[in-house]
Amino acid sequence: MNTVLVGAQWGDEGKGKVIDFLTAESDAVVRFQGGSNAGHTVVAGGRKYVLHIVPSGILHEGKICVIGNGVVMDPAALADELEAVRGWGYTPEGRFFISERAHLVMPWHRALDKADEAARPGGSKIGTTGRGIGPAYSAKVGREGLRAGDLLKPDFPDLVRACVEAANRKLRALGADGVDADEILAGLVPVAAALKPFVTDTVSLLHGLAEGGKDILLEGAQATMLDIDFGTYPFVTSSNPTAGGACTGTGLSPRQIDRVVGVLKLYTTRVGEGPFPTELTDADGETLRRRGGEFGATTGRPRRCGWFDAVVARYARRINGVDFWAMTKLDVLDEFDTVKICTGYRRDDGFTYDTFPADLSALARCTPVYEELPGWKTPTSAVTSYDALPENARRYVERILEIVGGKLGVLSVGPARETTLRTGI
Ligand code: IMP
Repeated sequence: MNTVLVGAQWGDEGKGKVIDFLTAESDAVVRFQGGSNAGHTVVAGGRKYVLHIVPSGILHEGKICVIGNGVVMDPAALADELEAVRGWGYTPEGRFFISERAHLVMPWHRALDKADEAARPGGSKIGTTGRGIGPAYSAKVGREGLRAGDLLKPDFPDLVRACVEAANRKLRALGADGVDADEILAGLVPVAAALKPFVTDTVSLLHGLAEGGKDILLEGAQATMLDIDFGTYPFVTSSNPTAGGACTGTGLSPRQIDRVVGVLKLYTTRVGEGPFPTELTDADGETLRRRGGEFGATTGRPRRCGWFDAVVARYARRINGVDFWAMTKLDVLDEFDTVKICTGYRRDDGFTYDTFPADLSALARCTPVYEELPGWKTPTSAVTSYDALPENARRYVERILEIVGGKLGVLSVGPARETTLRTGI
């Protein structure tokens, strides 16, 4: 059984926790896109772990963890993260692998990311995480990137020098300082040595596992609405976090995917710039942020908060082919007198969208159409089965399923591993 897990909104749906839950039943966990822009939080044994690039399966001794070819990885950040993982008492050796085809995020990509953001006029800033993701994917698509396999080559220094020369021209054109090739190379020597044992042909590795009947979990980072093709372009990340990306980012074929799990937070958040139809800038938004602890795991930025958007969720179900939903953070809504679900976007000329429009200027002319439901005003964090939830909480979840489609697989009512209710997956 090979499972793809994707975020169905703008990220931060609680994927880390659901991945942790599904990892217990998998043999291998694979990242297929994105890089250190992700922040997957797992709370286990009363301790909080945040991982940015290493699959969170590393917190389960014995599970195989893979960085697929679709990932852009920052070698220095990865080496640091592996050190942290060792410090927590887990062993990556022998069970952690990096695709030789994964592209590298280098210091000049981070510099270009920041310089590009700084040079953009007000309304066109993306609000990136500054981790060099966009420039690294640009280099990949522009056929001038460096890959993990290059780290092992004797001519790696020459490749770096050529890239630095080109990057410095771009940096100076953006009014930023250039980077120093010698300094970068000096820093990379120990990093390359630390990562070398993990770099391998992960296509063969993954196919070998699949042929041997092992269960593989393909872990998406970011989310559907940040997808370079299907998200709120240009306010998106530079990869395909949707289910299709799981194949192009690993080399597994679409025929090898058995099920897709979509993660949906029971309200909506977004970090960074870009459209967010159900955003709340009032006291309700503040309550969601406070109760949900909505601050970025990677950048610490406060997240924008709003009501549940069923237009987004239905769009995500279709694009990803979601079989099961993992719904998270129900408990955050426990205090509200009423809760709202957005079922459409009404444009100023009366037309109502029931799917997400590509044209952001049309979206800007829309207001959300809401259905209002009674709240439950009862704490749900200690509830241990779906049936024991307050009736109005179940009505809320079931109304969402009615509008959006798909089945409920997992419902989460708190941050700890124990607060994950299984409902049919
Ligand atoms: P980038 O991926 O750093 O280029 O950032 C592009 C957009 O994606 C920005 O709006 C970021 O805030 C957003 N983003 C990137 N990674 C994440 C994530 O893991 N969670 C939520 N938002 C993210």
